[in-house]
Amino acid sequence: MGPGPSDVYPEVLAAMARPTIGHLDPAFIVFMDALNERLRYAFQTKNAVTLPISAPGSAGMECCLVNLLEPGEKIIIASNGVFGGRMIEIARRCGAIPVPVEFEWGTAVDPNRVADALRSHGDAVALAFVHSETSTGVRSDAESLCQLAREHDCLSIVDAVTTLGGIELRVDEWGIDAIYAGTQKCLSAPPGLSPVSFNQAAMAKVSARKTPPQSWFLDMNLLTGYWGPGAKRAYHHTAPINALFALDEALRVLQREGLENSWGRHRNNHVKLRSGIEDMGLEFYVEPQHRLPQLNAVVVPDGVDEAAVRGFLLHEFNLEIGAGLGPLAGKIWRIGLMGASSTEQHVDLCLEGLQRALD
Ligand SMILES: Cc1ncc(COP(=O)(O)O)c(C=O)c1O
Repeated sequence: MGPGPSDVYPEVLAAMARPTIGHLDPAFIVFMDALNERLRYAFQTKNAVTLPISAPGSAGMECCLVNLLEPGEKIIIASNGVFGGRMIEIARRCGAIPVPVEFEWGTAVDPNRVADALRSHGDAVALAFVHSETSTGVRSDAESLCQLAREHDCLSIVDAVTTLGGIELRVDEWGIDAIYAGTQKCLSAPPGLSPVSFNQAAMAKVSARKTPPQSWFLDMNLLTGYWGPGAKRAYHHTAPINALFALDEALRVLQREGLENSWGRHRNNHVKLRSGIEDMGLEFYVEPQHRLPQLNAVVVPDGVDEAAVRGFLLHEFNLEIGAGLGPLAGKIWRIGLMGASSTEQHVDLCLEGLQRALD
């Protein structure tokens, strides 16, 4: 019950143990198309370019930025935690000019301040932000931010690593141009893959590049030659077949439950955790309207050794919860309720463990 990886469904682990086949095997090609279709469901998009990057969430982040930025181009990056900061660093390494708009950790991205930045930097080509900031447990308003990007003729790039499958996300309806996610959070597949989706506007920017992306591996033009749509299925790299089997199985689990039911389950288990936490006299760090149900930031009470509590839970309850990062180190615990780890039993176990640790 930390910030990810979450528990992996047994059927997903079983899928991972299936015999490995070749990455150009005709059966695998059929499998790839079906997997991409399931990803479209999870993202709520019709984007033809929707595929899993063969590397973790940070590679999805890098894929969006290296393809959509050319040297010297400006990008507004809203940062309210660890992962906004990572985007800024990657944009810099692309030779682009990141314009950071910083927010206090534990608060949401304020669309008004982003609008000011977009007005002051009319030459910016993109706006990037983290929808679900795992380092603080904060949800930002992706729909409003993407609308702002559109109004200022910028592409929107959205980090949905902790979002996908856990809370409402509607890529097409919200007009998101490029998005990346993770497998190890609310999808409950093993870590190591990053589903991404680019719409037509994003692909037009890729096609119009004057310089090739600095990363060969993450070059979307090369990736689509293997993953489609309508691709010749030319060898690009040896796909991680078994990890993809696992992701596909996790997406089947999501489809069986139904996306909205999954969002509802994450919300309900958060409500149950919240009432138990508050009954114990503990407090949440984030304002109610910005809280992520799948990542709960709980304030460490004065005088409590937060690491000792985590150690007690790990050793006595075989239960992991996360520590605070950066300016929140020592100040909060991060309790994940993601995917297969978002159940009433997990909530009960965590509350019992915390109560015992604090007694
Ligand atoms: C919001 C967010 N973005 C990006 C990442 C990076 O993902 P990964 O660690 O899989 O590279 C994470 C990982 O926790 C994350 O929570």
